Amino acid sequence: MSDLRPAPQVLDPNVPSAARIYDYALGGKDNYAADRAAADKVFAIAPEMRAMARQNRAFLGRAVRYLAGEAGIRQFLDLGSGLPTQQNVHQVAKEIAPESRVVYVDHDPIVVAHGEALVATSPDVAFVPGDLRRIDDVLDHPGLRRLIDFDRPVAVLMVAVLHFIPDGEGPYEVVARLRDLMAPGSHLAVSSVTPDPHPEETAALIKVSTSAGAPFVARSHGEVTRFFEGLDLVEPGLVSAPEWRPQIARAVDLDKMWVLAGVGRKP
Ligand SMILES: C[S@@+](CC[C@H](N)C(=O)[O-])C[C@H]1O[C@@H](n2cnc3c(N)ncnc32)[C@H](O)[C@@H]1O
Repeated sequence: MSDLRPAPQVLDPNVPSAARIYDYALGGKDNYAADRAAADKVFAIAPEMRAMARQNRAFLGRAVRYLAGEAGIRQFLDLGSGLPTQQNVHQVAKEIAPESRVVYVDHDPIVVAHGEALVATSPDVAFVPGDLRRIDDVLDHPGLRRLIDFDRPVAVLMVAVLHFIPDGEGPYEVVARLRDLMAPGSHLAVSSVTPDPHPEETAALIKVSTSAGAPFVARSHGEVTRFFEGLDLVEPGLVSAPEWRPQIARAVDLDKMWVLAGVGRKP
């Protein structure tokens, strides 16, 4: 894995970032003109991307509630955490289990800077800089090791991040490394963009997004299912994000939802 594309190194407001584009899609304020211009190009082709971002974030919240509640998990590793926003993982988990420990990891320096400020007064929450494609460096980080004990069940969250890692950069190997390390009873939550409902529109979207500086990969249901190899998918399996354990029945046009979401348990 020596020819990885470079991760964002310094804050450059003229270069769009996935984290800030997503923040803009969620209605946040931590974004610049270049991010908004890139996002607007994407929204012009697929206006539903805004709703998808919200549905994805809502899936994350429901998954953490399930993991802290029904599954009894007390440590969370949020990989590709994004900028702090509403209902961050530690806030959701601690509502259910105040003793929860949470480590956020992102390769974008602005995410880590904002995140560190948010959790500065919480000794059991940390923001750690790291590139998931170099997963061993991430796992060796003292900030992570201080809070996460892989001998006990952990929830690894890879929500809306694996689609930023093309096959050539080892996403399946990264997930396998984590799965092998996790104690039995650990869980993996994944959401990922899929081309399944609209392959042609997705291809056009990837083209625009790539030219706007935010490339991603869309994976089929079968390809996303492979991330759960060796794990048991909990009900309802790998489904469109709004269909994963919805709490309130809402009218969502599933035909316009291109994000698959699921949670797997290590037996
Ligand atoms: C779309 S946001 C998702 C945020 C959050 N997980 C959620 O679903 O609400 C994707 C995040 O992944 C981060 N990211 C992308 N590739 C990464 C990598 N190789 N290593 C670490 N973080 C990465 C981006 O910086 C961005 O903050």
